[in-house]
Amino acid sequence: MRDKKSLQSRRSFLNKLVISSAFVAGAPAILSAADKSRLRRILAIEKINANDTLQIALIGAGGMGTEDIKTALKIPGTKLVAVADLYDGRLEKAKATWGKDIFTTRDYREILERNDVDAVIVATPDHWHKDISVSAMRKGKHVYCEKPMVHSIDEGYEIIKAQNETKKIFQVGSQGMSSLGNEKAKELFEAGAIGQLNYAEGFWARNSPTGAWQYAIPEDASLATVDWDTYISNSTKRDFDPLRFFRWRNYRDYGTGVAGDLFVHLFSSLHFIVSSKGPNRVTATGGLRYWKDGREVPDILLGMFDYPETPNHPPFNLSLRVNFVDGTSGSTYLRLVGSEGAMDVTWTEVFLRKNIVSEPLDPFLQQKGNELDVAFGERKRMLPPKEMVYEVERGYKGAHYDHFNNFFHGIRTGKTVNEDAIFGMRAAAPALSCNNSYYNDKIIKWDPDKMKIIM
Ligand SMILES: NC(=O)c1ccc[n+]([C@@H]2O[C@H](COP(=O)([O-])OP(=O)(O)OC[C@H]3O[C@@H](n4cnc5c(N)ncnc54)[C@H](O)[C@@H]3O)[C@@H](O)[C@H]2O)c1
Repeated sequence: MRDKKSLQSRRSFLNKLVISSAFVAGAPAILSAADKSRLRRILAIEKINANDTLQIALIGAGGMGTEDIKTALKIPGTKLVAVADLYDGRLEKAKATWGKDIFTTRDYREILERNDVDAVIVATPDHWHKDISVSAMRKGKHVYCEKPMVHSIDEGYEIIKAQNETKKIFQVGSQGMSSLGNEKAKELFEAGAIGQLNYAEGFWARNSPTGAWQYAIPEDASLATVDWDTYISNSTKRDFDPLRFFRWRNYRDYGTGVAGDLFVHLFSSLHFIVSSKGPNRVTATGGLRYWKDGREVPDILLGMFDYPETPNHPPFNLSLRVNFVDGTSGSTYLRLVGSEGAMDVTWTEVFLRKNIVSEPLDPFLQQKGNELDVAFGERKRMLPPKEMVYEVERGYKGAHYDHFNNFFHGIRTGKTVNEDAIFGMRAAAPALSCNNSYYNDKIIKWDPDKMKIIM
């Protein structure tokens, strides 16, 4: 899988030190911190090399977890070995889908104890992301954690610490980041296709019960089939409520509202395209306008953000919207607007529009006009294309596939992944700050460099 030269250089490094993993732990005085970190990484890669298959476990086998595994298994050299979930129906479905041989449990900690698991996918509701991801890395597992990385900003520091200390590969699941659409937009932005960036906006429109998170509740949902005590064990104690379990997005103890659920995708893509660390000022407004089913979160949210000047981009403004009561349902986009044009970016397409400057400034045209005795400005010009659409080639496997591929490549090579914990924090924090702004009627100041709320 890896080239011979790099394998040889790893081996020679190992031989030179004549050590094993036990030695690393026991000989802190002999090795420098950099040597130890490199060695840990090499040993992890060598372990995977032994059978060349990455063995994965899924924690949280609901809608997205199932999609995650389906995609992950399309990538050669991967195998699902275990699944954890708090609802028995999901465990039964997992066995029916992926075979009786997979290990299933209600208790994710049993998965983390297994030696045959190299990496876990964490696709639980948001309030479990931090606890499971940190424990997993500390137990030696690589982690693909669904977005938003965390349920509250404070949790982010613990994930970053665990990633830095364990050197495990940690990828947040905003898959659009790894898409061809985002990559093309980044290339065009860096080539100056839209001139000076001044403004960006993103929009997410839906108009259906499922789109607005009114999911079906299984008929057998009860305390017998759901491990409710564990579900709420890191949250407020309450009596069993199937709505809070199966429609968790509507409740603040478990979900992060539309900002954590959807704005976060737009932040990840935007930050990737313009190489940004994030905004320094966040404000949000909105309301619960239509889906009044007892939910605690708004169904319309508008966020406004100021991005400070950095070496990578000028200062600019961002406006994000989510509307769950919108007849234009399906109109989701991210738009970057510059002095010379604008780009609408999706994961599979970039629609570039150029501004055509009305004055003929070209001295060559001016001279030609004089030669032909045509008054300057009278003669018509050839115009460059006003609009260009970049579309993915047929057969593109998609952003999700690319993002998992990037994760597995990181595990196999030790290279940094597209959305590590620091990137994930910088996407999650402004999204979660929208909730702080909305619920507390406040403007939130954020330091995107230091990743700290400014009081
Ligand atoms: N990347 C994307 O495009 C995308 C899309 C949808 C959802 N998501 C994210 O994926 C995550 C899951 O969302 P979903 O729509 O699949 O929700 P879901 O309700 O369909 O699935 C969540 C599953 O987690 C299980 N669970 C809850 N607590 C658990 C625990 N402590 N241990 C083990 N299992 C537990 C539940 O029983 C359920 O089966 C969320 O964080 C969500 O934001 C990402």
